[in-house]
Amino acid sequence: MSTSDINFVRQQFPALTNGFAFFDNAGGSQVPVQVANKISHYLLHSNVQLGASYRISKQSEAMVATASGLWAQAINAADPAEIVMGSSSTALLQNLARSLAHYFKPGDEVIVTNCDHEANIGPWLGLEEAGIVIKTWKINPDSFQLELEELGKLMTSKTRLVAFTHVSNILGSINPVEEITRFIHERGALVCVDGVAFAPHRQVDVKKWDVDFYVFSFYKVFGPHYALLYGRHALLSQLPGINHYFIAREDVPYKLQPGNVNFELTVGSTGIIDYLDTVFAQHFEVSTWDLFSRLKQVFDLFTEHEEQLTRRFLEFLTSKKNIRLIGSVEFSREVRVPTFSFVVENIKSSVIPPQVDGYDIGIRWGDFYARRLINDLGLSDVDGVVRVSMVHYNTVEEVDRLIRVLDRIL
Ligand SMILES: Cc1ncc(COP(=O)(O)O)c(C=O)c1O
Repeated sequence: MSTSDINFVRQQFPALTNGFAFFDNAGGSQVPVQVANKISHYLLHSNVQLGASYRISKQSEAMVATASGLWAQAINAADPAEIVMGSSSTALLQNLARSLAHYFKPGDEVIVTNCDHEANIGPWLGLEEAGIVIKTWKINPDSFQLELEELGKLMTSKTRLVAFTHVSNILGSINPVEEITRFIHERGALVCVDGVAFAPHRQVDVKKWDVDFYVFSFYKVFGPHYALLYGRHALLSQLPGINHYFIAREDVPYKLQPGNVNFELTVGSTGIIDYLDTVFAQHFEVSTWDLFSRLKQVFDLFTEHEEQLTRRFLEFLTSKKNIRLIGSVEFSREVRVPTFSFVVENIKSSVIPPQVDGYDIGIRWGDFYARRLINDLGLSDVDGVVRVSMVHYNTVEEVDRLIRVLDRIL
């Protein structure tokens, strides 16, 4: 994106006008006006219970249904019924695991990784109570990569599901989800992919990747604290429900949405799509493209810009002798997103962000709930890693500002 384009982008986010540099985007991103307006409009004009016969209830029902339809198009799902909404990725995965606990049989096997956020590990470990055997696919601690050869050794004819992350929220590297999924499907198992750290940076395409389950959180993708789980329809329709006993098995996705969706946030989440479409309209004149194609163009713009930021920041990190990057040194768009974790020689990670705070720059330290990874990499004693995470609205000037501060204090 050129300077004028990035200015346009930033103008959509009121929080970006106050001079603060947000580099904790993998924790949570800022929200454009389109999202806030959608939530507020729903609450102020349509806040009724769905399912009644009166006009406003029908109107609200249509708005919620439209939201599922838009998200299905945005992520290339075949059917709006494949879009399950919930309060967080953690809650959605816990619900999914609860359902699968009654679908799998004792003795079946599930594989998790040691580099996922706990949201895509803990719920699966809970299946042990139902007699499911859990195995762990560990990354190579030198290359920080998940290797298919290792996965092949763990898989057996009893493996029913492999849960893995598209991008680790610590490492920032992109796992080849299509290739991994093919490998797992060839061996007869399902995949459940955590796309939380991927979705803010690249377009989600569940059809191309052929994934069975894919989850991400709107609050990291410029939206509200809310989340989406994609599930293949043929599979969702077979799963036991976790809603009230009288909600039919055919009632997809409602049987997996106990207590129903949050109406204002479901509708509000489509403000993200409005925002992305506003960026599209600013850059392209074509109006006949379908939503998925428009979003692809927008994410390509973001990717280009993010690669520039990545290159700059990685050059700095790798030039400092006392900094150890936890992740790939490659800057290319195919390899990573702009989420960087590092440790500094002889300094605990917890000491660094507070020294940056005074410059109106937000970074943070910790294990980011990828505690098993931090433990396995031997980084618990240094209080985990320092993490700097960028998205498309960060500027080269902000990155340079952060570099100057880090250079001074490290
Ligand atoms: C990679 C990843 N997965 C899952 C989660 C959990 O998301 P949620 O807060 O929506 O449960 C996070 C949150 O930080 C994350 O970074």
